[in-house]
Amino acid sequence: MAKLPLSLYPDPVLRRKSRVVDPARPSLRALVDDLFETMYDADGVGLAANQVGLDIRVAVIDDSGGEDPMRRLVLINPKLVGEEGEIEEEEGCLSFPGLRAKTRRAARARVQAVGLDGTAFEVESGGLLGKALQHEVGHLDGRLFIDYLPQGQKALLAGRLKQMRNEAAKARA
Ligand code: NI
Repeated sequence: MAKLPLSLYPDPVLRRKSRVVDPARPSLRALVDDLFETMYDADGVGLAANQVGLDIRVAVIDDSGGEDPMRRLVLINPKLVGEEGEIEEEEGCLSFPGLRAKTRRAARARVQAVGLDGTAFEVESGGLLGKALQHEVGHLDGRLFIDYLPQGQKALLAGRLKQMRNEAAKARA
């Protein structure tokens, strides 16, 4: 297992639609282990492969913060197939260190995916898991939590996002 470097906003890989992957690909098991390790190290609830620079449709979630191994969820080629209701709650993302903002999300989400053993499954949830499902599937489609800000929150974050873009430009120069 290894901790992987995180891709931070505005890295273009975060805006790319990730590609469908063969669940039988031998390297996936090691990648999933690394995603969990990287996520736990950063105290995250979920992590998508493009957040470590790989544009394939793989994400992990653990809404127990590593407390309960049964809560570990591996999503390969996940698809959002149902949404219900609406909530506004605070949300953050490991690609935006230190940034939290209120987002508008569905109150419940239903996702179809394939596990590491190649078996298709469906998961439906509200609460933290419901939000994480929407957040991670969004990542794989190139969407970020800053795309779900209610009016008013956008203006609040604009300065901080600009600062992140400037810092990235400076680091590249
Ligand atoms: Ni995120």
